[in-house]
Amino acid sequence: MSPSPPSSASTTPKIQALALILPLFRRYWLRVFFGIVALLGVDLCQLLIPRVIKLSIDGLKSGAILPHGLFRYGLMIVGLALGVALFRYFWRNLILGFSRLLERDIREQLFSHLLMLDRTFFQKRTIGELMALSSNDLASVQLAAGMGLIAAIDAIIMTVAVLMFMIYINPTLTLIALSPLPLLALLTKILSGRLHKRFSLVQETFSNITEMARSTINAMRLVKIYSREEEQTANFDRLGRQYIKHAMRVAIIQGLLFPVSGLVANGSLLLIVIVGGKMAIDNLITIGDFIAFISYLFMLVWPMMAIGWVANLFQRGLTSLSRIQAVLSEQSLLHDDGCSATLPASINSIELRALNFSYSGQQGQGLHDISLTLTPGLFGLVGPTGSGKSTLCHLLARLYPVTEGSILINGVDLNRIAIKDYRQAVAYAPQEAFLFADTIAANIGFGRPDATLKEIEAQAEAVGIHDEIMHFKGGYTSKIGEKGVMLSGGQRQRISLARAMLTRAPILIVDDGLSAVDAGTEQQIMRAILEYSQTNIVIMTSHRLAPLAQAAQLAVLEDGRLTALGQHHELLAKNDYYRAIYQKQTEPGGGEADAA
Ligand SMILES: Nc1ncnc2c1ncn2[C@@H]1O[C@H](COP(=O)(O)OP(=O)(O)O)[C@@H](O)[C@H]1O
Ligand SMILES: [Mg+2]
Repeated sequence: MSPSPPSSASTTPKIQALALILPLFRRYWLRVFFGIVALLGVDLCQLLIPRVIKLSIDGLKSGAILPHGLFRYGLMIVGLALGVALFRYFWRNLILGFSRLLERDIREQLFSHLLMLDRTFFQKRTIGELMALSSNDLASVQLAAGMGLIAAIDAIIMTVAVLMFMIYINPTLTLIALSPLPLLALLTKILSGRLHKRFSLVQETFSNITEMARSTINAMRLVKIYSREEEQTANFDRLGRQYIKHAMRVAIIQGLLFPVSGLVANGSLLLIVIVGGKMAIDNLITIGDFIAFISYLFMLVWPMMAIGWVANLFQRGLTSLSRIQAVLSEQSLLHDDGCSATLPASINSIELRALNFSYSGQQGQGLHDISLTLTPGLFGLVGPTGSGKSTLCHLLARLYPVTEGSILINGVDLNRIAIKDYRQAVAYAPQEAFLFADTIAANIGFGRPDATLKEIEAQAEAVGIHDEIMHFKGGYTSKIGEKGVMLSGGQRQRISLARAMLTRAPILIVDDGLSAVDAGTEQQIMRAILEYSQTNIVIMTSHRLAPLAQAAQLAVLEDGRLTALGQHHELLAKNDYYRAIYQKQTEPGGGEADAA
């Protein structure tokens, strides 16, 4: 869940956050304008009803209207009530529609902004936080901009108009009637503030329950193997009780809100009956005025409550908006400013010059003084776990900016090449194979939307997974994920690899892409990779040495430093780590032991 912001948050970012929605008001101004006009229609009709009541009662009393004349007044009231219904339909449609459009637009803005940000950002924010932004926070912005806006305008119009009608009847009586009402606004503000806090707790507990159910079902095998069913059930039960506890508190506060406001309104009514009744007896006001006055008084109750409610709504909406704004104002460390260099069609060298790198918040340094030149062919990067192989891949894939030293592509500084251009030149199969909940064909074709099924199949064949795909009931149209086919680690790796290779990008980076495939498949994949590397630069990391033995160039990375460079037989002769691991991995019995 999103952390609640410090209550002392300064107001400037909140004002800045408003800049986020102002253009949306401008974009949909017609909708907002007519929505408010319809709202005015509702208010006008509502205000006129007590006037009609007054006229009919005073007419009755003076004997000026006959019974059938009453029918006319009745019809007028029905007409006004119809007007209320019609106008209300319109404003709801227009303004609530506006708030949904606003929600959609901000969500799209947020989403496309997230796609632009680099990995540094995603290390600072959890997925849960980002999900909360686009669900809870956006919902409270939507509520404030829709219902909140309407309630605020309505409350102001109604208060002013009702007051004018009341003052018109009798100023003194108005003053007396109003005296308890500020209390109502205050009570509503306090109670609805409490309500919100409790309600957030309910939501939080609910998401805990969902998360627990999800992870338990996901890890069902573990639960069974460790016989943890009873504990899990007890935990679940505990969360369920918490949920009920919080939900009951919400119900209690909600139950308090209306009786309390009723009490205040009736206190005010008491004053009017005593003072106003006396005025009517003394003929200072007519009976019709007296009754109309009471109707107006009841019309003030809602606006007074609305003011308290809206104050909370706006506060919450603004806080959420500034949280969204904070993400929208995050700049990617990778940006295109000053990226004027264009990328040549064919890439024939990548040069790393005195490259240093560390992640923000990393203890010590990730990469030290790496200098190296890559040309078309297979480049193998080996080294123990944690030595920095993936880090180097990240920099080559430009997931992080180069800050110290440089990477030159055909002699051009990578930081000066437009990001989009470079991305088109690089294919990257990350260490953690990520697959979308989509068909297998869509997953392989992700980087090449124009690829034909034939090309996709040929690529799958090349990485040795075609036959396995054909064994799934849906073949290439099988969906991957919870409701579709479940894939083994090796299958995921090969699909991710096929996706990268299908792009035919001049630079291919494969980070530990063979760790979960068997020896036979590995050889087949290496043939495809070697073929790819005849015209392209292929960078491949592995902690198993055998598949990389044929690499044109091999580098050993230890603790962020390049400790050896050369071909397989050279490294066997000169690098202790390489020799030791190679012997361990190839000796009979030691077999395919992990190098790490
Ligand atoms: N995002 C990160 N933030 C901070 N430190 C990291 C991050 N990713 C990796 N590291 C650290 O950088 C070092 C190199 O990691 P990595 O490049 O993944 O090694 P390898 O791929 O060789 O196993 C490790 O010490 C690791 O803990
Ligand atoms: Mg790694």
